[in-house]
Amino acid sequence: MNRRRTALKGVVLMGAAGLLALSGVSMAGSQAGTAAEPVLIGHYGSMTGKEATFGQSTDNGIRLAVEEINAAGGLNGRPLQVITYDTKGESGEAGKAVTRLITSDKVTAVLGEVASTLSLAGGAVCQERKVPMISPSSTNPAVTRGRDYVFRVCFIDPFQGMVVAKFAHENLKKDKVAVLYDQSAAYSKGLRDEFKKALKKMGGTIVADEAYSGGDQDFSAQLTTIKASGAQAIFVPGYYTDVGNIALQARKLGIGKEVPLLGGDGWDSEQLAKIAGEAIEGSYYSNHYAPDQATDDVKVFVEKYKAAYGGQTPDGLAALGYDAALILADALKRSNCEGGKALRDAIASTKGFKGVTGMITIDKNRDATKSAVMVEMKMADDGNLKPAWVATVDAAE
Ligand code: PHE
Repeated sequence: MNRRRTALKGVVLMGAAGLLALSGVSMAGSQAGTAAEPVLIGHYGSMTGKEATFGQSTDNGIRLAVEEINAAGGLNGRPLQVITYDTKGESGEAGKAVTRLITSDKVTAVLGEVASTLSLAGGAVCQERKVPMISPSSTNPAVTRGRDYVFRVCFIDPFQGMVVAKFAHENLKKDKVAVLYDQSAAYSKGLRDEFKKALKKMGGTIVADEAYSGGDQDFSAQLTTIKASGAQAIFVPGYYTDVGNIALQARKLGIGKEVPLLGGDGWDSEQLAKIAGEAIEGSYYSNHYAPDQATDDVKVFVEKYKAAYGGQTPDGLAALGYDAALILADALKRSNCEGGKALRDAIASTKGFKGVTGMITIDKNRDATKSAVMVEMKMADDGNLKPAWVATVDAAE
């Protein structure tokens, strides 16, 4: 049944390509012009909702990579084609989107999600159906654990939590830190645990440990407790919309800028500065990449992305989406565009892949070991509040 469907699709597409060839239209890299059946891959991401920039940036990065692959002749002569479904940032939607990609669209592989809670939901479906999935950016360890069809191209939160704790302790000399985390997100809970563990090990103290639920509007009770705790910094391992609101309310409550907020990759969105304004100035977060980091590969990527997307600067999600798509394409080439176990094995054997976000080797846990950057929300020369690179922390440290 599967086979018949595939054969049929091939016939239809070859017909279309034939027509185009007759009319003399050059369609290099496009689906119809190469006369070969496209390799379908799915992307599930938050294209709308409270974390909309996560999905949008990731999709932009994926599509930029796919365009480049197709312009260079595709995969063994076949064009790569992406189908994107919106998860709205909800885990129920994530499961549905992945099921639809696999059962109706019959994709060969899946890219997504950003938020760990959603990758856990989508990953369960991929694992059950034995369709390889690569999360560009989910950092909670559980995402790939025990799931041999689920991979990621980013570091994980035990590392990220250590990086931020080390930065607080060594660079900022802030050892009394309060925590305010999102109890509804696997990412936030996990990163909070790792940060606490790491800071305590370095001799620091957690002076308050408060929780909220993603989407909450009023953080005054937690922030009042935190203010009274004498915290020198506040660790907020949340997503940008909530973090922006928390920063605004913290400053309004009289927690001054000498008490910076600290966070993880979940802050990464141009929306953060738009929501929080100067309330977030002088605060720091860890991330996978910093666009102002002057390596040649990063510069080339930033220029290409800006040219493709109206001058927008790519964030970490865009860079990781791009890398995830390139790694998937590389593995597809090696599996001869076969999906299932052949593709799974090809992804698993990825070694020393030079991505925009660093060197990527898939380890035995299907994760990537990479360096992290610390950035500061800083006023740039153009008058915009933006993340500025402060430090790079290598995985071995
Ligand atoms: N690491 C976050 C998570 O697992 C997602 C994220 C990655 C958000 C990178 C922003 C940038 O939920």
